[in-house]
Amino acid sequence: MKILILGSGAREYSIALALKNENKNLEFYFAPGNGATSNLGTNLEFSDLENLASFSKENSIDLCIVGSEDFLEKGVVDIFQKHGIDIFGPSKRAAMLESSKAFMKDFLKRNKIRTAAFGIFTDIKQASDFIKSLTPPIVVKADGLCAGKGVIIAKSHDEAITVASDMLSGKSFAQAGKTVVIEEFLDGFELSIFALSDGDDFVVLPATQDHKKLKDNDEGPNTGGMGAYAPSPLANDALLEEIKNDIIKPTLKAMKDEGNEFKGVLFAGLMIVNSKPYVLEFNVRFGDPECEVLMPLIENPLDLFLACTQKKLKNFNLKLKKDFAVAVVCASKNYPFSSSPKAEISIKSLPKNSHISYAGVSKEKEKLFASGGRVLVCVALASELKEARDLAYELCENVSFDGMQFRKDIAYQALR
Ligand code: AMP
Ligand code: GLY
Repeated sequence: MKILILGSGAREYSIALALKNENKNLEFYFAPGNGATSNLGTNLEFSDLENLASFSKENSIDLCIVGSEDFLEKGVVDIFQKHGIDIFGPSKRAAMLESSKAFMKDFLKRNKIRTAAFGIFTDIKQASDFIKSLTPPIVVKADGLCAGKGVIIAKSHDEAITVASDMLSGKSFAQAGKTVVIEEFLDGFELSIFALSDGDDFVVLPATQDHKKLKDNDEGPNTGGMGAYAPSPLANDALLEEIKNDIIKPTLKAMKDEGNEFKGVLFAGLMIVNSKPYVLEFNVRFGDPECEVLMPLIENPLDLFLACTQKKLKNFNLKLKKDFAVAVVCASKNYPFSSSPKAEISIKSLPKNSHISYAGVSKEKEKLFASGGRVLVCVALASELKEARDLAYELCENVSFDGMQFRKDIAYQALR
């Protein structure tokens, strides 16, 4: 069977690795992939999505799995379906749950799904009046995709007004900031919940937690995510039931009722305030690095993806390992601010039950080099969370490249 995975991160690498561990006979293609995915399959060059779909058709690709949101926003699912290729991911319209925060917030409001109180503005005067009606801190969000950088938590009214003004004028995020969402600040703990859907039925994966800040104790600038672990004991059964019944189920039903059937993975970024879940954001693809802890916990990932694309989730039996998984992201020297010099990666050895998922790497003469951004992710599994964390950190100590930085406190909220 031939599988094409779209994206270039450790998320996409981890999907391929989990599928390969389940079934050695799979043949992998990546577009664009990275320096390490070429060890698992073939990296493809492509000019546009039509071109990629034609290649897939001609080469009998059996299943395409979309990793990154950029492809979804451009309508890759609609294009591949037009060519009759099985593809895991939502249509361009359904992907608006992620590509427009204004669409997502309006959707939540009209479907009575719990989220922070908010206003949507294109005009600075009206935005300022709304800002003045809130108590700081105040959250200001650019409407469009900004690679995880479009959310600013302002400490004062003046700061919030400046941030909103820079967004609306196009100064900070160009077109993506021409509409802003302003919302009340929610104080609680965050969870990432992933539901895979075939449009009608869904399965929920173990609860995870990301670590978005660069530094220990959630300090420093925002990043794409510096580490994750699963299952999170912060999500007890009652909370998970509430998330399923009050957030996932009504969201999928309303998407269908509104003519935007959602197939693929719905990623709910939640804030839990006084035991109640609030939707901070939806993404329409796996989280990175959350995917790197979820994939190795799933024993039958291929059947899961196929059940989603073929509408067979109703009687699907998701098989999960009973382990905990911890992922620690190792980033390049200047991440998340600027590019970093190329640096050779050296790996001493892998502790038991551990592996690496690769992201920002290039390959030269069979050697891997850190090429910038988040470089690689050290992942370990164990029957206890603490043991999984210790193994992941043992692996980090065995990996080195010039300027490597990683957080030392992944999973701290569950282990303190
Ligand atoms: P988002 O992209 O909307 O998930 O926002 C990115 C991050 O900003 C979240 O993971 C939270 O840490 C934070 N954030 C977003 N919205 C709020 C809010 N209303 N209250 C508190 N923190 C928020
Ligand atoms: N780790 C958060 C994200 O992928 O958006």
